[in-house]
Amino acid sequence: MGKIKLMHHVSSHLQLSQISKSFVRDGLPLPVLDKIDLEVQHGELVALIGPSGCGKTTLLHIIAGLIPPDSGTIFLNGSRVSDCRHHVAYMQQKDLLLPWRTALKNTLLGSEIAQEDLAQAEAHAEQLFAEFGLAGFEAVYPAHLSAGMRQRVALIRTLLARREILLLDEPFGALDALTRAELHDWLLKAHQKFPQTTLFVTHDVEEALKLADRVYVLSERPAHVKTVLTVALARPRDPTDADFVALKAEMLRWLRSP
Ligand SMILES: Nc1ncnc2c1ncn2[C@@H]1O[C@H](COP(=O)(O)OP(=O)(O)O)[C@@H](O)[C@H]1O
Ligand SMILES: [Mg+2]
Repeated sequence: MGKIKLMHHVSSHLQLSQISKSFVRDGLPLPVLDKIDLEVQHGELVALIGPSGCGKTTLLHIIAGLIPPDSGTIFLNGSRVSDCRHHVAYMQQKDLLLPWRTALKNTLLGSEIAQEDLAQAEAHAEQLFAEFGLAGFEAVYPAHLSAGMRQRVALIRTLLARREILLLDEPFGALDALTRAELHDWLLKAHQKFPQTTLFVTHDVEEALKLADRVYVLSERPAHVKTVLTVALARPRDPTDADFVALKAEMLRWLRSP
């Protein structure tokens, strides 16, 4: 842990104002996002939590420029932008690994496209494979990896993309508890060294409270922001600590409230 040297990133300030989005289902409008206001400060770690199907992935797609919002505004470092596509590294909920490339080659995709120094990128990738418990699996194809391993490969690919903003959609969802806790520690250490502006989706209240500076609690679809909780607890955080327990109870109350 902690040996890795990622390139230094400039972090960015992301702000969403009144973002709304509807899809059409069976010929009827399906409102998904309802005037979402959200801010992630320079180097902040922010969690998005909310019920399944409420619109979390849709919001990340909008930030990443994969789909447009119906209305609302996105600001990047104070300037209005249509999306953040050139500024984000986006780890999608589906890992989207290319089946015809080995695990290592999958993580190097971005570096190849950006025509970066491949030897250096590969050295970084190999360090990360070791730190994420994947040493020896570099040459294995995605079909032969477990869901948790695929997720770690996708996470490595995202980290190697070296963008100012990280968008992570349930990045630890498929992992067993032990690996999950290890990667939490790793993420916090990496973030301490290189505080990238980070927005991650989780459905796990403890995960949100362990990692995030602030947590946006979303409602059922169409999602609106129910509340924003600030997690002013020193790290590493102990889930048995009284303040942690109290915040967890508060977040659960918000999640369950109508
Ligand atoms: N392209 C689409 N067309 C129609 N409906 C969609 C589309 N993408 C997502 N949805 C619907 O929008 C809702 C929110 O989806 P999503 O953002 O994936 O939720 P979450 O990530 O919070 O589980 C769901 O009901 C989903 O079925
Ligand atoms: Mg989702």
